[in-house]
Amino acid sequence: MAAMDDPAPPVPAVMIAALKETLGPGGWLEAPADRAPFETDFRGLYHGPAALIALPDSTERVARVVALCARGRVGIVPQGGNTSYCGGATPRPAGNEILLSLRRLRRIRAVDAAGDALTAEAGCVLAELQSAAAAVDRLLPMSIGSEGSATLGGLVSTNAGGTAVLRYGMMRALVLGLEVVLPDGRVLNQLSGLRKDNTGYDLKQLFIGAEGTLGVVTAATLRLFPRPAVTATAFAALPTPAAALALLAALRDSLGDAVTTFELMPRLALEFVCRHVPGTRDPFGAPHAWYALVEATAGAEDPEFTPRFASVLAAAIGDGHAQDAVIASSGAEREALWRLRETIPEAQRHEGVSLKHDISVTPGRLPAFIAAGAALVARLAPHARLVAYGHLGDGNLHYNLSEPAGGDGGALSRQSEEIRRAVHDLVAAHGGSFSAEHGIGQAKVGELERYEDPVALDLMRAMKRTLDPHGIMNPGKVLRGSE
Ligand code: MLT
Ligand code: ZN
Repeated sequence: MAAMDDPAPPVPAVMIAALKETLGPGGWLEAPADRAPFETDFRGLYHGPAALIALPDSTERVARVVALCARGRVGIVPQGGNTSYCGGATPRPAGNEILLSLRRLRRIRAVDAAGDALTAEAGCVLAELQSAAAAVDRLLPMSIGSEGSATLGGLVSTNAGGTAVLRYGMMRALVLGLEVVLPDGRVLNQLSGLRKDNTGYDLKQLFIGAEGTLGVVTAATLRLFPRPAVTATAFAALPTPAAALALLAALRDSLGDAVTTFELMPRLALEFVCRHVPGTRDPFGAPHAWYALVEATAGAEDPEFTPRFASVLAAAIGDGHAQDAVIASSGAEREALWRLRETIPEAQRHEGVSLKHDISVTPGRLPAFIAAGAALVARLAPHARLVAYGHLGDGNLHYNLSEPAGGDGGALSRQSEEIRRAVHDLVAAHGGSFSAEHGIGQAKVGELERYEDPVALDLMRAMKRTLDPHGIMNPGKVLRGSE
């Protein structure tokens, strides 16, 4: 394997010609203007020219492209909806990799309502898959802000999380089977809808969350669930994160695993949203320190369900764990409450430079982490605006800092490494993870080396060498020096 500072040579013209022939008319892009949207991540932080944008329209063509690249030792960067927060789907600057877009693999191959399973190709957009499940009265419970553009291959490859993990788990829990093009061009076909299958190692787990470094996910079979008959949604005002945890515990005591969503946000996040997102407004007359978007669903019609949900909130207000709450009484009101949470990333973009950290600790340790983190930020960057929001039920916070109001974003950017180190050290001291749901990409390769158990890192490198001996799959992502 070549070292990191010994980049592969440019892609030879004969290889480009062979790839074009394999891909066929309409199967590739080469002009700089056509390539541009694929070569920059959506936050505009990572850029890298691709020697060619390959747009295969079938698994078979993906396999032929990968086989060609394996023979020529050409790096391949797989890309789906280009929504990575970590530069995981953007080529590196050297210009000697091809970008493999899965966007044309768009077929939903089967929807099995009786078997509660859906099989689709990697380029299918999540929102379309949700609709396909709903059309047969089933629920595909994966739910993320970018569901209008994120695609199945990327969701699997990054083990996506989102706002329903509390009840249904991350992508890993939803995948029943995968089809993967291996780094030598062979196709691993394990598109099984089986619920029980103990035939040796569970190979699909290797590719879920591997960010395209071990192979290209071309299709997946996902688990579906009954569609909820009743949905109860509330927005609650809370004095502290500890009170939020107490409210979550009370909801679970009363409703069991019907609680699907418990999202925490601070006052500043609500202010950002109301300032920048048209049509949004603070549901309460007075400001509060923290808020939670809470949702619970019941599988069958149950006239007692929403009143029970409401009585837990009323009791929480009675005992001081909540200060106020509104419950949606229509679909439109529900959507308005969800908008207050889902548009936080968009609203924060309008507030200038931001530093993002995607951390998790066990939920019970969140209050202590939040208190220690606030003290740390006050010491390191007293004028930065801390907006720590996210999936409280999963112990996952987007621990983001915005530049001072009307202030100097450049100063915050210059401190980004120092702040990142301090935040991630604090996470480690709380037994947590520096990458809860956004992955490693190229952004957190050094963090993985620093915080991961050395034995785990050895195993990861051994797996990479075994499956991808020439280091052609998404080189330099997740593991350094793997090319
Ligand atoms: C979210 O939960 O809104 C996302 O994961 C994105 C973010 O980091 O802001
Ligand atoms: Zn999130």
